[in-house]
Amino acid sequence: MKTPVEGFSKLSKAEKIDWIAQNCTEDPKTSKQLLERYWNTDHQVQKLHDEFIENTLSNYYLPFAVAPNFLIDGELYAIPMTIEESSVVAAASKAAKFWLDKGGFKTEILGTEKVGQVHFIYKGDPKKLTVFFATLKPELLQSVSAITQNMEKRGGGINHIELRDLSDKIEGYHQLHCTFETLDAMGANFINSCLEQFAQTLKEKAKLHAAFSEEEKNIEVVMSILSNYVPHCLVKAEVSCPIAQLETKDMPAEEFAQKFLRAVNIAKVEPYRAVTHNKGIMNGIDAVVLATGNDFRAVEAGVHAYAAKEGHYSSLTYAKIEDGIFTFWIEVPLALGTVGGLTSLHPLVKLALDILQKPSAKELMRIVAVAGLAQNFAAVRSLVTTGIQKGHMKMHLLNMLNQMGASENEKQQLVEHFKNHTVTNASVKEALEKIQSQK
Ligand code: MEV
Repeated sequence: MKTPVEGFSKLSKAEKIDWIAQNCTEDPKTSKQLLERYWNTDHQVQKLHDEFIENTLSNYYLPFAVAPNFLIDGELYAIPMTIEESSVVAAASKAAKFWLDKGGFKTEILGTEKVGQVHFIYKGDPKKLTVFFATLKPELLQSVSAITQNMEKRGGGINHIELRDLSDKIEGYHQLHCTFETLDAMGANFINSCLEQFAQTLKEKAKLHAAFSEEEKNIEVVMSILSNYVPHCLVKAEVSCPIAQLETKDMPAEEFAQKFLRAVNIAKVEPYRAVTHNKGIMNGIDAVVLATGNDFRAVEAGVHAYAAKEGHYSSLTYAKIEDGIFTFWIEVPLALGTVGGLTSLHPLVKLALDILQKPSAKELMRIVAVAGLAQNFAAVRSLVTTGIQKGHMKMHLLNMLNQMGASENEKQQLVEHFKNHTVTNASVKEALEKIQSQK
């Protein structure tokens, strides 16, 4: 792209494609064909996708898979996962199967509180602001009654509004720190609408507050926005079994349990390891969050902040061995929705929720936490026994063969061959060349 473009969003889709192909790609004809080839043949479905965002040119496919055999609180689930990384679904399925005959996964919702804040500047007498806030609070609630009505009917709404003084950090900085119950909705729109109304009411009422000086009446609202840090929208998932049941072909049970525990403890104290440890957890969490149409960026941001809540970045999972019982668990904040957003729009998201038996937001929190725990179990198990490359490269084999242009027949032969041989880029290339030279 050599020159800026004016009014790009106003162009038709065909014009946008032409412009991008001509101005930004090496081979405009092929680029245009590619963008069009990825369109959905069903015009309605394509239109739906086009309208999710601005400037849509095509679709970007990711695999939609399931990991079956998850026993969660006595219910069996096949968990939908959307992810590109080769080994993730296989690892989740393996962990699900491992825990299936050991009682499965047990979960507990520890809280469902969402948070939003109005950030404002008030440079005046703090006592006067406190007195003002006492009269303001019912007026704030009243001002959002049209927004909260339906949510309240279903048992949700605004939990608390608190005035917070942070003027020691930034001159005049205060907040309305608000907490919400948004039931089966992730709640971003509900929360932000309430907050923007709070901000307006705050400004208007301050102007009319007789005890304020002219300067105090002039409250400056900086911004009103939900927080993706939701430490009290929290779920716990756990597995446990007698150590003897951890026996695998790779390692004796007792040694495995001790090594596993040590690996988790390393992730507790060592941030370099904790980040990768938690990345493995997010492989499971993000895949389900994405498949169910939830906002994985919000979840990622909130989860990592939670992992650092004690002042240093640490593991989200814990393990212990007590009286011969191995227990492994996760505590993770998850603000999820099963209504609103993409959940009733994206056809595959609807299907994912159907596969999960139309869960409530709380049920989805349980399922997602389990996916994270299972993924972490599978990763740490591989790491402390065989190492991850063996399984990972096996799963990556098809990607490599596709990249090398192998035919279906060659792929079949080589998948068979590599059941007993080590997969590396060089060994795959060599084996493929050998087959091809024999033709
Ligand atoms: C790879 O995507 C994830 C792992 O690195 C996680 C871990 O190290 O625990 C295998």
